[in-house]
Amino acid sequence: MSKIKHAMLIPLYLLGVAAATPQAQAQIPHLQRQGTATQLVVDGQPFLILGGELHNSSSSSLAYMEPLWKSMMDLHLNTVLAGVSWELLEPEEGRFDFRLVDGLIDGARRHNIRLVFLWFGSWKNGMSSYIPLWVKKDYQRFARVRLQDGRTVEVLSTLCAANWEADAKAYAALMRHIREVDGTDHTVIMMQVENEVGVLRDSRDRSEAANKAFSQPVPPELMDALTRDKDKLQPDLRQKWESAGSRTAGTWEQVFGAGPGGDEAFMAWSYGSYVEKVAKAGKAEYAIPMYANTWLSNPQGTPGNWPSGCPEPHVMDIWRAAAPHLDILSPDIYAPNFAEWCRRYVHAGNPLFIPEMRREADGARNVFYAIGQHDAIGVSPFAFDSMANPGSSPLAASYGILAQVAPLILQHQGKGELTGFLLDKEHPSAKAEMAGYELEISLDSIFGDNAEIGYGLIIATGPDEFVGAGSGFRVAFSAKTPGARITGVGQVDEGTFLDGKWIPGRRLNGDENDQGQYWRVANGQLSISRCTVYRYQ
Ligand code: DGJ
Repeated sequence: MSKIKHAMLIPLYLLGVAAATPQAQAQIPHLQRQGTATQLVVDGQPFLILGGELHNSSSSSLAYMEPLWKSMMDLHLNTVLAGVSWELLEPEEGRFDFRLVDGLIDGARRHNIRLVFLWFGSWKNGMSSYIPLWVKKDYQRFARVRLQDGRTVEVLSTLCAANWEADAKAYAALMRHIREVDGTDHTVIMMQVENEVGVLRDSRDRSEAANKAFSQPVPPELMDALTRDKDKLQPDLRQKWESAGSRTAGTWEQVFGAGPGGDEAFMAWSYGSYVEKVAKAGKAEYAIPMYANTWLSNPQGTPGNWPSGCPEPHVMDIWRAAAPHLDILSPDIYAPNFAEWCRRYVHAGNPLFIPEMRREADGARNVFYAIGQHDAIGVSPFAFDSMANPGSSPLAASYGILAQVAPLILQHQGKGELTGFLLDKEHPSAKAEMAGYELEISLDSIFGDNAEIGYGLIIATGPDEFVGAGSGFRVAFSAKTPGARITGVGQVDEGTFLDGKWIPGRRLNGDENDQGQYWRVANGQLSISRCTVYRYQ
């Protein structure tokens, strides 16, 4: 199915032509609400991404990829995140080479795995290393960022129309091609537009065009959006705006304050607007869900230590106004405070999708939290292809369990029937209210064997019935509805799901449920169990 296109193609978005009928559009991968959750729908069914992102260069060689497909299956991945670089897609201006894209789609189909393509276009980790050589060399046509010391760097400037036009043209060609070869099969289910954008080593671009734009008034469409959503704004942004006097018009410095904070707000709008043009051009060809990912900030640094203008939580509202064609703003979470970053990214209905996170044992625990507590569309540890023994890794164990429970998770998302938790010495317990009961979930402990770490998710699957997956926790129930006062543990069974059907194993009683007092999911074993409760006086 490989084919190379040499023709100079005119993208649909320039012709104003709709790419697909509404009926065909309804079938392609899309996002859909279920209660308070947003779900990814693939082939008419909600889909939970149990993903893994490849190292940046792995997908630049189909031969290199060949043994990796097996390790994906060993890991129980259902989706791989793979880079597609502008330099390899459009090696000469207007000549597109889709052989890699076709080969990746072919490999994924052969192994029953879905794909999320990462568009390494104008930026990757703030830099422009993946732009084609014909763009790199033509630095007068394709303007660069200038830093405070006067140096230009290998970073395309957001303030140069030739840059976004060329990027959008290439991305549109990619999306058109994906529609042509995959518009029916839906192997490609989502797209990442660019990678961790933003200016490094300075808080903003100081090129002539950037200085000019920075001295202009904040665009009214941004001011209108912020004013309309004032009560729902992310608190840091709101505070920045209020500290500068809550102005509804003025320059960037007047509205957001002089210094790195104002610079970052300006860059967020500028990157958001650029990525919007690229995403919009792509969606005009094939409108599957698209997201942008974020190199997260740190409290010790200032914008420029992290890419200034990246969709950080404190500028998310600016991005949402600038880039309506993006469906999701995503965090790449390598930081230890995983739960906090998840919470910050579900701001204002933003669905949680984590394209990069740690692949080690902590990452394998954290996936339960993101999915159980925040209805994540999916999770994807980075560089799984460098794991020594993927099949026997903690991540493989987590995905093996989550793959079994996924249909139940998807059925109950967004309805107040699902919870996730991470327990440790600092956070030894968590509470959740579901199906008329309060669940007190704590670190497991029995006869002096005290779990130091607990994690998992619990689903209220029916009246008085719960299914849980994880390790190292115990649950005490109390009823929240009128009736008999005391809640007892009815029955606890361990088991597995085979093609969605529950296959019970041992009946867990005695020490296994602390003589009927708790639903225990023992320390050190990752397992699934089903617990029923009853009430008495
Ligand atoms: C984040 C980037 O998005 C990835 O492409 C990769 O460079 C990792 N950092 C490396 O840890």
